[in-house]
Amino acid sequence: MAGGPSTPALAAAVSDAGGLGFLAAGYKSADRMAAEIEEVRATSSAPYGVNLFLVEPYEPDPTRLDAYIRSLEAEAARLGADLGEPRWDDDDWQGKLQVVLDVRPAAVSFTFGCPSAEVLRTLAKHDVLTAVTVTSVAEAREAVARGAASLAVQGPDAGGHRGTWDLDAHPDQTPLLDLVSAVVAEVAVPVAVGGGVTTARDVASVLERGAVAAQVGTAYLLADEAGTNPVHRAALTDPDFTTTALTRAYTGRWARGVANRFMAEHDDAPAGYPHLHHVTAPLRAAAVAAGDAQVAHLWAGTGFADARSIPAKEITASLAP
Ligand SMILES: Cc1cc2nc3c(=O)[nH]c(=O)nc-3n(C[C@H](O)[C@H](O)[C@H](O)COP(=O)(O)O)c2cc1C
Repeated sequence: MAGGPSTPALAAAVSDAGGLGFLAAGYKSADRMAAEIEEVRATSSAPYGVNLFLVEPYEPDPTRLDAYIRSLEAEAARLGADLGEPRWDDDDWQGKLQVVLDVRPAAVSFTFGCPSAEVLRTLAKHDVLTAVTVTSVAEAREAVARGAASLAVQGPDAGGHRGTWDLDAHPDQTPLLDLVSAVVAEVAVPVAVGGGVTTARDVASVLERGAVAAQVGTAYLLADEAGTNPVHRAALTDPDFTTTALTRAYTGRWARGVANRFMAEHDDAPAGYPHLHHVTAPLRAAAVAAGDAQVAHLWAGTGFADARSIPAKEITASLAP
């Protein structure tokens, strides 16, 4: 869970409790990621994973992008923030790849796209288990054809960004259990499954459909070890916030968060990732500094009411079917 919630302490605690904790590398430099890997290794000897963004080149429609940025100016001015510059970047892909080849975590997962067959093969040769995030049967088929050793199947209830490879496509809305069955019938590699999995019963349901593991994000957002910011934490337990929705308003890529005013007012955002991520970053930081949950992004899956403020060890134990 990039952007704050995932910390080395959270990954280590989950792994120590018998899960496979993942470090979020997204939005960090390769050096920062390497330093966090060292922190995990200093605290825990259990296996851990690292999650990398694979950001495909993308050119947003300039007219729609400009119009959308103009529509954010009043909100930015109200919060005393300058909007950022729209730009593409690859999230330090090559640097991070080199680090994971050197350090060899037990697993490396990818989201937003699929690595080349060569990259997947190289990681396999280094004894690293690859897990490619897929949101449809078509993506699952393609990931396995390229050589993915396992899949992270993400269903429509998942918190945060949808991993859908095609930025212009509306994410597949097939219900999670149907999606798992369809993917398991199609591919021969092990499949981990997430999206709205917040209880032991949910874990049992995905295992019954043929998954080998459950992937859980939202249930850890309030964990003692999570780096979730105070505005995000407060919103998750605020009775005024009752539902989640999919939005492109913050980053130009579909993501699920707790529904707030900003999402309602900006339902016309175009595709443009990471361009819009960079545009809204100062606005979002100002909203957090001002304690404004109606503007801050509040990534969460549909099961956010199950998130609890307890140690990650207890959350992990509570998920065992
Ligand atoms: C706050 C937040 C941040 C996330 N960041 C990432 C990320 O950096 N990389 C990634 O592959 N998935 C990310 N996800 C999605 C999770 O990997 C996973 O698909 C999702 O949490 C599963 O659904 P759940 O949130 O209902 O448990 C994020 C989810 C949340 C809630």
